[in-house]
Amino acid sequence: MKILVCDKTEAEAIERLRAAGLTVDTNFEITPEELVKVLPAYDGMIVRSRTKVRQPLIDVCPNLKVIVRGGVGLDTIDADYARSKGITVMNTPKASSASVAELAIGYMFALARSICKATETMKAEKWEKKAFEGDELGGKTLGLVGIGNIGREVARRANALGMTVIAYDPYVKEAEGVELVKLDELLAEADYISLHLPKTKESENMIGKAQFEKMKAGVRIVNCARGGIIDEAALYEALTGGKVAGAALDVYAAEPPTDWKLVKLDNVIASPHIGAATHEAQGRVGAEVADKLIEFAKAH
Ligand SMILES: NC(=O)c1ccc[n+]([C@@H]2O[C@H](COP(=O)([O-])OP(=O)(O)OC[C@H]3O[C@@H](n4cnc5c(N)ncnc54)[C@H](O)[C@@H]3O)[C@@H](O)[C@H]2O)c1
Repeated sequence: MKILVCDKTEAEAIERLRAAGLTVDTNFEITPEELVKVLPAYDGMIVRSRTKVRQPLIDVCPNLKVIVRGGVGLDTIDADYARSKGITVMNTPKASSASVAELAIGYMFALARSICKATETMKAEKWEKKAFEGDELGGKTLGLVGIGNIGREVARRANALGMTVIAYDPYVKEAEGVELVKLDELLAEADYISLHLPKTKESENMIGKAQFEKMKAGVRIVNCARGGIIDEAALYEALTGGKVAGAALDVYAAEPPTDWKLVKLDNVIASPHIGAATHEAQGRVGAEVADKLIEFAKAH
């Protein structure tokens, strides 16, 4: 079986695939134009988030049997279309859950204690001790929108910190240590809101002007899920109008952002989509990608 690795993947995983008898070529910087030309010669491809696999590409690859995405979301792949053409589409759903959860929790601490802003003042040789009275996370209510693999990891950690955890997820019936509530209830009660749901037609812009109006004044928002679930214009307004005290963003409607004004706000802290970027998560992603492809190759 001939596999093209289109995005950066752990060397160990590639070694294991070769040792299992697969022919593996790597081109971590392949462009969409090149991909259309070379992919038809392959049985399978490995992608992360950089390479998009859309219908026109699938159409020129009638021999493609398997697409493995190292990561959680399948929004970069026309997965239903690929499956309708008999292509197996796989991902690594749990490999990065703990890493994303830790980032979300880290962001809550950073918002509560203004850690980033305090660092900036210290680097500017300013001793503004009185400017940084923060809050504890313990005793506060965390509202999770989406309580799947990552949401549950966040909930476990937040419970250990003494937070009350409520969640809105219409597809889930129970989650340990979490009270499931309606979205409006979550918006009204949460001191922190953290998003852990996929971007779908239903979730696009689901946190907009009307939802911000229902939130507690001084609420803090964390988005380590996907850009575009929060309406960025409405978030900008809520942050400048004082309704939202702070936001922490790892993901954006456009990546990199085309307009940086949201990120530049004083009460926003931000990172460039690094939720899964830990040594541990990358190791687990690589291992799972290799396991799944080797198993697939054995069966075909
Ligand atoms: N920042 C990063 O680097 C990074 C890394 C991994 C995953 N993610 C994002 O995190 C998201 C969550 O990951 P996960 O592993 O927990 O996925 P998951 O599939 O285990 O859980 C997602 C949950 O969201 C729920 N959901 C779906 N639509 C919803 C809606 N409209 N309203 C409320 N809940 C809804 C589902 O029922 C499910 O329980 C992924 O979809 C991905 O977009 C980001």
